[in-house]
Amino acid sequence: MNQTEFPAITTGTGDLAAYLQSNKDAVDADLFDAGAVLFRGFDVPDPQAFDAAINGYGEAGFTYEDSLSNAVRTNVTPRVFTANEAPPTTEIFLHHEMAQTPIYPAKLFFYCEIAPGSGGATPICRSDWVLDRLSNEAPEFVARVEEQGVRYTNVMPGDDDAGSGQGRSWRSTLSAETTQAAEARLAQLGYSWEWRDGGSLRATTPTLDAIRLLPDGRRSFFNQLIAAFRGWADSRNDSNRAITFGDGTPITNDEMAPAITIADELTYDLAWQAGDVALIDNFAVMHGRRPFNGKRRVLASLIA
Ligand code: FE2
Repeated sequence: MNQTEFPAITTGTGDLAAYLQSNKDAVDADLFDAGAVLFRGFDVPDPQAFDAAINGYGEAGFTYEDSLSNAVRTNVTPRVFTANEAPPTTEIFLHHEMAQTPIYPAKLFFYCEIAPGSGGATPICRSDWVLDRLSNEAPEFVARVEEQGVRYTNVMPGDDDAGSGQGRSWRSTLSAETTQAAEARLAQLGYSWEWRDGGSLRATTPTLDAIRLLPDGRRSFFNQLIAAFRGWADSRNDSNRAITFGDGTPITNDEMAPAITIADELTYDLAWQAGDVALIDNFAVMHGRRPFNGKRRVLASLIA
């Protein structure tokens, strides 16, 4: 595929819910080819219309409550939530949604209710293209993450911290009211953990795959390495300690540099217009959030 075909852009008018319902096969074909489809010009005035469009598409949702996402979010409608409540100045780096956990959605919908004043694009990047180039430019790194997998370490607060891009409390993340319930859930998921002063919890994932085989045989750089390495810094977290190879050896700046450079070069900035809806294949395409000024409201929904 030529890079200029990414993302696919479908312009239209009228009701997006009806369009998605009548054209699902064509939409899915575009999604499969491009990895991301932008719907522009349709009549999607508010979150309720976005919720209806998601229902028109007709696939089951992936619920935030059941997920192990680190982001603080709020539901707006049953299927729609705020994408991430981190402050405007915080850049959210490229990632596959929830690839730092064993439970992740297959697709994501985004909806722009209020376009940002300046900045605020959603960068998107094809991970199969990233892996192709990385396999040539850093073959040892690719071989090592493929052979060993990776682990992520995150320190979760006791209560939600909306000032951080990964400020979701361990209580909410693990659906646990007590430390005993949290430990039971972590053990079930294969995590290791350590309680910290002030009621926070340092949790390390089991070994997770960093490369995913797509249905047609392509492979993607399906992981959270770039976002974790570049972005998991807050009052509790040191991003230099966030990622290791499967054997526990930290992944260094030099080892991450080629992936970061290649992904930046392949990134397309989706500059939002109010009413835009984007559908993203979470296994093939990473996304993030550029910093912004002024109001911006981009909502999200996850497909199981
Ligand atoms: Fe995300």
